[in-house]
Amino acid sequence: MIDLVLATRNRDKISEIQQSLRTLNVRILTFGDIRDLPIVKENGRSLYENALKKAFLISSWTKKLALSDDSGLEVDFLNKRPGVKSARFSGENATYEDNNLKLLKLLTGVSEERRKAQFKCVMILSFPDGRIEQFEGILNGEIATSGKGNNGFGYDPIFFVPEIGKTLAEINQEEKNKISHRGKALKKVYRFLENYINQRYGN
Ligand code: IMP
Repeated sequence: MIDLVLATRNRDKISEIQQSLRTLNVRILTFGDIRDLPIVKENGRSLYENALKKAFLISSWTKKLALSDDSGLEVDFLNKRPGVKSARFSGENATYEDNNLKLLKLLTGVSEERRKAQFKCVMILSFPDGRIEQFEGILNGEIATSGKGNNGFGYDPIFFVPEIGKTLAEINQEEKNKISHRGKALKKVYRFLENYINQRYGN
């Protein structure tokens, strides 16, 4: 069985990735399994740059296949901000709640049509030989006027998805993975790795 190292320290992302890839024939390893796994500084100008840096460094260091996720929220009214700075929207040590409050405040009085937003997820698979594969997923929605729901993480309580009439925090992880930006990217990762494993190891 091949090892797949997750190049992220975000436990919420790890949980969603583990759930989506649970039936894939790989052994998923996280920073809890590998001693002294390097911490990668996320200072890129795009989701792609950050995702590439994380996956490449972790696969070079571990000499194993690594999967990274860089994701962000783009709000139309804010000219696609916070984007790549989603985690640090209200400062270096911002909590999810700080970020949500800042966003709600910036959108005070803004009409429904102008609250459109997209979640974007860029995933990179980096192979020990330097080969790179990129996968993406997008989820369209709008920023609610107040938080709703207790599931998920980050901006989930204020991200309303019109198709289901709920915020992402009002659905469970399995339902979120079916529609989310990360879930969509992970479906592509899943198919790619399934083919890779079949070709490489056959059955
Ligand atoms: P990064 O990819 O580690 O730079 O950070 C992504 C940030 O975007 C997170 O800290 C969250 O604030 C936000 N984010 C990414 N994906 C999601 C999601 O699925 N739900 C809610 N917020 C998310």
